[in-house]
Amino acid sequence: MCGIVAYVGHRQAEPVILKGLKRLEYRGYDSAGIALMNGGLNVYKKKGKVAELEAFIRHQKLDSHIGMGHTRWATHGEPNDENAHPHYSATRKLAIIHNGIIENYASLKQELLKKGHRFLSQTDTEVFIHFIEHIRETEQCALDEAVRLALTKVVGAYAIVVMSLEHPGLLIAARKGSPLVVGIGKGELFMASDATPIIEYTNEVVYLNDQEIAVVDNGKLTIRNTANLPLTPYIQTIDLELEAIEKGGYEHFMLKEIFEQPRSIMDCMRGRLDSASSRLVLGGLRDYLNRLVNADRILIVACGTSWHAGLVAEYFFEEFCRIPVEVEYASEFRYRNPVIREGDVVIAISQSGETADTLAAIELAKSRGAVIFGVCNVVGSSIPRATHAGAYTHAGPEIGVASTKAFTAQLTVLNMIALIVAQKKGTVTEQRLNELLIEMEQIPGRVEKALQTNRQIESIAAEFKDATNFIYLGRGYNFPVALEGALKLKEISYIHAEGYPAAEMKHGPIALIDEQMPVVFIATKDSTYEKVVSNIQEVKARKGKVIAIVTEGDKLIAKMADHVVEVPNVSEPLMPLVSVVPLQLLSYHIAVLRGCNVDQPRNLAKSVTVE
Ligand code: G6P
Repeated sequence: MCGIVAYVGHRQAEPVILKGLKRLEYRGYDSAGIALMNGGLNVYKKKGKVAELEAFIRHQKLDSHIGMGHTRWATHGEPNDENAHPHYSATRKLAIIHNGIIENYASLKQELLKKGHRFLSQTDTEVFIHFIEHIRETEQCALDEAVRLALTKVVGAYAIVVMSLEHPGLLIAARKGSPLVVGIGKGELFMASDATPIIEYTNEVVYLNDQEIAVVDNGKLTIRNTANLPLTPYIQTIDLELEAIEKGGYEHFMLKEIFEQPRSIMDCMRGRLDSASSRLVLGGLRDYLNRLVNADRILIVACGTSWHAGLVAEYFFEEFCRIPVEVEYASEFRYRNPVIREGDVVIAISQSGETADTLAAIELAKSRGAVIFGVCNVVGSSIPRATHAGAYTHAGPEIGVASTKAFTAQLTVLNMIALIVAQKKGTVTEQRLNELLIEMEQIPGRVEKALQTNRQIESIAAEFKDATNFIYLGRGYNFPVALEGALKLKEISYIHAEGYPAAEMKHGPIALIDEQMPVVFIATKDSTYEKVVSNIQEVKARKGKVIAIVTEGDKLIAKMADHVVEVPNVSEPLMPLVSVVPLQLLSYHIAVLRGCNVDQPRNLAKSVTVE
């Protein structure tokens, strides 16, 4: 998975591209490169972050009004200068940037090797551009036609941009399975993996669909598909503030995004939920709502943090809608032979809307006749476009690789969906529904309060920053929160952490407990409170260190635990929205104290568009 940007217009291309690449670094950051038309088709590339590329090219003459850049997350070939993009064709007259995987590259490479081609990198992408040039030479056709023919022969996923020495005003882009947006400015055009590199210059965009090819030739955009049908570009106006994608005074995007949660949860409910009038509306569900209300079973597919949101939703849907729910890792679902019956409904959850496994799970479920709902954050991304219906989370761009505000926004949307269904089915009383709506409106304020634990958590983090293991325990609605807390810690501080249902502790993890082991309990006042208190005593009896997230005013746990972190009182089904906040902060501060790269943790990328 990688980020790509291209530009042609009246500005200098290099600063536009570098700035864009920095915005896309969440997609990958092990090497970066840029191609410009400055006295030739020149490629500059470097292992490491975009900043290293920037330092590398600082003293070069880079005057060009057209160019393209790439920030990489390795799939084929280790991260090094050679494997970084752009890649040249055999004659070095063409260059390409690519996000995705060409699955049949090995056989194409064999064919080309036999014809005398030599490759400088281990990438599938270099094979791809050699193949395009080979087609052009053998078919004696125009470059855009050669690209189109090549695309009909490759298997896999791609978003590409191609430049040509012989056509200095030409950019050819195409997508299948990886995102690509074209930005239309005044006398300038942009291409990028998402809209963040573009919005500073224009809010008019065209989202390319799979199998579409966009050609920009001397400032004119034309689109056709790989079957050679001309298409009319569908121009959309996007509503994205520049401020929303900058750090706004915070040291890291992750901290900014944790602190944005009161607002992002509010944004997610705005215009959709109003307790005074008992109004609860999600426009994107309307056409398929009855399928959801009458569903025999709901299958939730997702990955990572989104999967954890799905687990919380399982409790919520089953409690209020009385519909059985199964939560599946999208990556597993797609590779077994799942039973999907008429009457089953699938909900796909994804922050990026681009996760390859989740997309593939959707396609599989669709092919078996299921109706698919999407819960996504990135507007216009692939998943919302592949689903029948759904709702955006409206959390704003999430840049930190570890997901925070997207998670709480996903919970908010899923709760709203469940309550709409419950209301229609009559499985929730008007009174209970109203109590929940009132309480949901109060959640932003409760999260604000939970954020006030920040200082306290910073000092707890200092005490435990050198731990080598952590256990996170919770029950009921707080069990998925325990999983999420453990995932956050693993992701950004590289400390091994396990999340478990608290009652399962006695079936294994208890053996791990000694005076070295920090155990984080999510022990808020709910239906299993007493049982969790007993689990805390069991850990203390074995000299484990207990950090407990408790409901404010809890005196009992304060006597047993090494640290108690108080969160405001919220009813059980809504507690994850609040109880996750101190866990996000704990992982953040531990990672900072360990000197880790919080926003761009090693080996991870924000949007995983490969298997
Ligand atoms: C990656 C990210 C995680 C994210 C997961 C699912 O692994 O690092 O933070 O939860 O993908 O992503 P999605 O965009 O589908 O929610």
